[in-house]
Amino acid sequence: MLQMKHTLRTICLFTLLITSASWLGTLQKDTLQQSMKRGEEVYATSCANCHMPQGEGVEGAFPPLAKTVYLKNQKRAIDIILHGQEGEIVVNGKTYNVPMAAMNHLTDQQVADVLNYVSNTWGNKNPMIKPVQVKTARK
Ligand code: HEC
Repeated sequence: MLQMKHTLRTICLFTLLITSASWLGTLQKDTLQQSMKRGEEVYATSCANCHMPQGEGVEGAFPPLAKTVYLKNQKRAIDIILHGQEGEIVVNGKTYNVPMAAMNHLTDQQVADVLNYVSNTWGNKNPMIKPVQVKTARK
């Protein structure tokens, strides 16, 4: 009898451990889709006024984000948001030279989210950026 009680208690503890571990797992897992969804809102308030709602930009002034190669290099993309971008650049065969101000008032999470959104929308496809990468680039 005592033996059975002991076994039961072990099983209970074990089950509890497994359920809490998988529960924690779902809490911690931030998918690209979730990040992009948050990023879509950041884009609408912080980027769309220049880069346009569909990332098409404005010729001669604001370069497009749709199909741009500038998002291929994660470090470069993060730097553009945190430190701004100045000087002549060529995007999709057209030249632009209007400075973009740094947007370092955005949180690490917001920068990661907005980049995940623009890097995986309008025909772009890139690996997920994590907030810790933004944190490192801030210094
Ligand atoms: C006030 C207008 C403005 C806002 C707001 C703005 N940008 Fe820009 N952005 C520019 C301009 C202008 C350039 C080109 C800079 C140059 O000519 O060197 C640029 C360049 C870029 C580039 C590199 C070139 C390209 O098209 O691939 C990226 C990436 C970018 N911006 C992303 C963003 C993101 C993401 C946001 C929102 C967090 C944002 N920008 C907000 C004006 C803006």
